[in-house]
Amino acid sequence: MLETSRAGNDMGLLDGRAAVITGAAQGIGYEIAGVLGGAGASVVIGDINEEAAAEAAERLVKHGIAATSLRCDVTEEDEVAALVAHCADTFGPVGVMVNNAGITRDATLRKMALTDFRAVVDVHLTGAWNGTRYAAAAMREHGHGGSIVNISSIAGKVGNFGQTNYSAAKAGLVGLTKASAKELAGAGIRVNAVQPGLIRTAMTEAMPQSAWDAKLAEIPMARAGEPAEVAQVVLFLASDMASYITGAVLEVTGGRYM
Ligand SMILES: NC(=O)c1ccc[n+]([C@@H]2O[C@H](COP(=O)([O-])OP(=O)(O)OC[C@H]3O[C@@H](n4cnc5c(N)ncnc54)[C@H](O)[C@@H]3O)[C@@H](O)[C@H]2O)c1
Repeated sequence: MLETSRAGNDMGLLDGRAAVITGAAQGIGYEIAGVLGGAGASVVIGDINEEAAAEAAERLVKHGIAATSLRCDVTEEDEVAALVAHCADTFGPVGVMVNNAGITRDATLRKMALTDFRAVVDVHLTGAWNGTRYAAAAMREHGHGGSIVNISSIAGKVGNFGQTNYSAAKAGLVGLTKASAKELAGAGIRVNAVQPGLIRTAMTEAMPQSAWDAKLAEIPMARAGEPAEVAQVVLFLASDMASYITGAVLEVTGGRYM
């Protein structure tokens, strides 16, 4: 995964900055950590899976990236506060916050339990609210602005069958992004969202083949995206290349549902 980012000409875009990425023990979050690290950021991996997070940080260190990890359940305010503080203690104040942690608990409206609705909304939406709130507070205090990127989903734009919980949470992230972008612009903090489409990760590999094929048929580019193709967009939004972009939602879908 890191080969493309490290070998590319992105070196230096985030030199001297510290980035916190939630849910970065694997999948898209891990790729984001690698790409931001490849561009010069020090990275803090927060994940509910402590062991996988530590292994992920070790792998990044082996690739020459300054990385550390901390167990963090994004639904717990204290743990998110501790994650942001861990960044300040280890690498300096957070300059980039990526709210990426996510889960799915799919079922139709008829069959979904309230606990499954609440769990998904809590991880994606409350988790990102916690991340935005604590990162913004640290960025304000430091006084040098910053960039917050929320990982939404195309499901938040179009709604997915069997995902009322996930689609609601991902649409909610758009509102959170825009409202906080307005509140934080004066402090030089930009807040944007990315809406990936079908990306090849553990989350989507769990999907039945028929569902995978049906989604592929909707994609003009006729292929799934790779985690690196999401991570590169996050790097753009995190960096000064996007210095005049805030409150934006970028779709990374190969043209699906344009
Ligand atoms: N894979 C896709 O096609 C796709 C498409 C659109 C959006 N997304 C979004 O991208 C993000 C990453 O997805 P992925 O495919 O890499 O999933 P993944 O399941 O591979 O990784 C998710 C990570 O989040 C962690 N996590 C779960 N609950 C957590 C919690 N409460 N606190 C902290 N960490 C927690 C997991 O341990 C895991 O490491 C999610 O927000 C997902 O909704 C994925």
